[in-house]
Amino acid sequence: MKQSIAIDGPAGAGKSTVAKRIAQILNIPYLDTGAMYRTVAVAAKRHGIDFADEDAIARLVGMIDVRVRHEDGVQHMLLDGDDVTGELRTEEISQGASLVSRVPAVRDRMTELQREVAHETRVVMDGRDICTNVLPDTPYKFFVTASAEERANRRVKQLLESGQPADYETILHDIIRRDKQDTERAYKPLFCGEDTKKIDTTDLTIEEAVNAILSEV
Ligand code: DC
Repeated sequence: MKQSIAIDGPAGAGKSTVAKRIAQILNIPYLDTGAMYRTVAVAAKRHGIDFADEDAIARLVGMIDVRVRHEDGVQHMLLDGDDVTGELRTEEISQGASLVSRVPAVRDRMTELQREVAHETRVVMDGRDICTNVLPDTPYKFFVTASAEERANRRVKQLLESGQPADYETILHDIIRRDKQDTERAYKPLFCGEDTKKIDTTDLTIEEAVNAILSEV
């Protein structure tokens, strides 16, 4: 296995922005593993399955085909051959992904797919359990975080800039709820391991966070 770069952290901490920049600079692919869990949530929605129905979700993941494809450097998600990339970034699917990702059968299947990618090529991978579970043997492990308030502020700014409505209190509430689910789930929760370098981006620019990682790699 080549020495990939693993980045974990809570929702909205800037992981994916930082991970994409690093992948670009090192000229290696970037794998957004959250998009894979989001694809399972889209599948549940299409099959009319409640995100919280763990038995039904476990059965579902054994029946669907989830694939990652890179086109011109952009990651696309395929669900049973359908490109669902455009359906992944809604609040409903964010919440759904956080719920379906609690199911061990879902996590084990996604972990398998993620390891297949890292086995083929050196990658930058971001998610919630990459350092602790998917690629525990890589020497390059980072936990990118920021305060919940700062993450909510950034999201508000991002939404307003793209012309969408944004309510700070609602966004902060959603972030805190997702943090709780992701860190308190029984199976492979989000946490920063002892051998992982923690980078708090609350007072850092993207460039500073990127450099903090690059100086270690
Ligand atoms: O990174 P994201 O916001 O796209 O992830 C969506 C949800 O998927 C997140 O709330 C928890 C889950 N997830 C996970 O459990 N493990 C990963 N490696 C990536 C995401």
